[in-house]
Amino acid sequence: MKNYVIHHEWKIIEEGFKPELNRISESLFSIGNGKMGQRANFEEKYSGDTMNGTYVAGIYYPDKTRVGWWKNGYPEYFAKIINSTNWIGIGIKINGEELDLATAKVLSFTRELDMQHGLLSRRFVAELKNGNQIEVCSHRFVSVAATEIGAIRYTVKALNFSGEIEVSPFLDGDVVNEDSNYDEKFWVEVSRAVGGAEGYLTVETLKTEFQVCTGMWFQLLKNGEKVDSKISNRDKEKYVEALQKVKVSEGGEIVVEKLSATVSSLYYEKENLVERTKEAIDLAVDAGYDALFESHKNRWLGKWKTSDIKIEGDVAAQQGIRFNIFQLNQTYSGEDERLNIGPKGFTGEKYGGVTYWDTEAYCLPFYLSTAPQKVSKNLLVYRHKHLQKAIENAEKLGFKNGAALYPMVTINGEECHNEWEITFEEIHRNGAIAYAIYDYINYTGDKEYLAPTGFEVLLGISRFWSQRVNWSAEKQRYVMLGVTGPNEYENNVNNNFHTSYIAVWTLKYTLEVIDYLKKEFPFLFEEMVKKWKFNELTETEQWKDIIEKMYYPRDEKRGIYLQQDGFLDKDLTPVAELSEEDLPINQKWSWDRILRSPYIKQADTLQSLYLFQENFTSEELKSHFDFYEPLTVHESSLSPCIHSILAARIGYQKKSYEMYLRTARLDLDDYNNDTEDGLHITSMGGTWMSFVMGFGGMRVVNGRLTFNPFIPESWKSYAFRIDFGGAHLEVTKTASIFSILNHSEIEVPVTIWGEEYRIKGNEIKEFKK
Ligand code: BGC
Repeated sequence: MKNYVIHHEWKIIEEGFKPELNRISESLFSIGNGKMGQRANFEEKYSGDTMNGTYVAGIYYPDKTRVGWWKNGYPEYFAKIINSTNWIGIGIKINGEELDLATAKVLSFTRELDMQHGLLSRRFVAELKNGNQIEVCSHRFVSVAATEIGAIRYTVKALNFSGEIEVSPFLDGDVVNEDSNYDEKFWVEVSRAVGGAEGYLTVETLKTEFQVCTGMWFQLLKNGEKVDSKISNRDKEKYVEALQKVKVSEGGEIVVEKLSATVSSLYYEKENLVERTKEAIDLAVDAGYDALFESHKNRWLGKWKTSDIKIEGDVAAQQGIRFNIFQLNQTYSGEDERLNIGPKGFTGEKYGGVTYWDTEAYCLPFYLSTAPQKVSKNLLVYRHKHLQKAIENAEKLGFKNGAALYPMVTINGEECHNEWEITFEEIHRNGAIAYAIYDYINYTGDKEYLAPTGFEVLLGISRFWSQRVNWSAEKQRYVMLGVTGPNEYENNVNNNFHTSYIAVWTLKYTLEVIDYLKKEFPFLFEEMVKKWKFNELTETEQWKDIIEKMYYPRDEKRGIYLQQDGFLDKDLTPVAELSEEDLPINQKWSWDRILRSPYIKQADTLQSLYLFQENFTSEELKSHFDFYEPLTVHESSLSPCIHSILAARIGYQKKSYEMYLRTARLDLDDYNNDTEDGLHITSMGGTWMSFVMGFGGMRVVNGRLTFNPFIPESWKSYAFRIDFGGAHLEVTKTASIFSILNHSEIEVPVTIWGEEYRIKGNEIKEFKK
């Protein structure tokens, strides 16, 4: 845990130069726009410890699998969104000496991320070995308005000398991934061109043959006037550079404005890439840095209008929640159904920037409530487009008849994960994907999505579940053997409650959907029957049998479902009784010891209780929480949020707040000592959920918006914004009052603390309990 970020409502601020924390700051101060992302690397040379990270959405390399012991069914590769051409670079020489903060004396240093406007800034004073002191101020953004464009304004002031400053903006495609399995370089050059202030570099990924063209243009200004000294150029393989010199006198200042465009073959024909990049650069140059920033800033203000959360009375909490919202908005903008959300977004290499069940389970609710409907719909369409691959994936494991097993990790629908106990066994992910369809429809009312897109996915997943269970003659029940639940500290267990429960739920929901389609879209349903060779009678009969006769391990004495068979045989000593030295167990204990222990990595049985709250009484929710939470080590960042929501639901407000604090500033305070690897983007969706669904007690029950709000004691008030049913609502809670302001013309029915109301268009309604 670190605590060096200065608290501020809208900004992330680091004071003082801390090279040992640089990788953490590079993650924290990352910027992005859903199409690309950039770690907070320095523009000028830095020979100290750093991890360069420039990521272009959808551009990946299939890095050949590396495992100790190969198992049939393992994928050939792990897809990685790879480090791409560095567009931010600006070499700086002062009287012939290169600026490098690792070798210069840094006299002051501030880094700042303005989340309201999406602007990263750095200001420092440094003394070079030659005694020259300079003050540098840099601003940079990747535009959320013109998503190909990145812009930098870099100012250098000569503090104690007169002389020559040389600036050399460059593009460098000779980059590597630190996590490359075989130390390969993933890019080859296609073309390069540089002349005067402009340069272009096109590189191609090996194997996947994606091309990315990056263009740059710069201008050098002195006293507000463009410097017209000669620009010379340099280039070598995968590298282009422009270079200009200028004389400054003591106290004088120069400004480098560098604009870049990053354009990929995901969107344009390869032969047109350079031309298209030139057009983007021309447009950006015509607009200029200020106008580009203005439109970027206005777009950000628009995003905040629909997604902000305000907290009065706690700046650290305010900063924390805004940081989470900012990062979620930077990572996914929902314009392209081929893109998704990696657990680290575009802020690091871990998890390869590719898709996990995290998207459906932890991120979808945020986008459902705060972004246009198309954004969350595209997350669903992403999976629909991968249906055929999910069917092939299941076939490889021996399933048939259109059964679909979605991958644990993927970018294009193919499985990339290669630990058998997860790849083959952590199949609850299929349930999360089915549930997301329900979640989306329940929230938006867009039932037409089922016909046939949603239905096809549900059918494939239901077929998988019906083949994955088997009849136990001994139990006279269906069982699900050899699974891993969300709690990855148990592998290859029998009858994991969450997996079995969500499997049965999927079958029930698919049956409901079939009834709906037969009524509302009979012809289309007939077509689906033919297309999928769906034997409605026999298949649904079997599903009904499974629904009726599924086995769930249970402890009648405690009145709880058990995480899996045999769970009560464990030594159930609570986590609180472990010594500090034991924690985190994933670093301190052998895997063998972890597997035999009762300790739970993240919500498992409670994941079902959270998703299906309405199926359990408050007493049941409480008894399960009381049993499982004390055994939970929360060693996945995805854990505290679910516990926070459930704790709020059963009236454990202090616990809910405590759990919330563990997620809200997870990265800002480097709670798990791993922020240097990248930010926990998907768990940020969970943080948003614990706020809105935990403190706000928001659920959509049968299409109806309900709230059971409370406010943490130390706060004066909080307010969040959500879109629902076409209306835009601002929800506020103080110690005594709960209010909803309807910013739209549309009337919204709501349930608050169990009572039903209607909020008319443009009305504000207050409620007291
Ligand atoms: C969690 C998984 C999650 C993955 C990526 C793991 O530590 O246990 O549930 O999908 O991280 O975030």
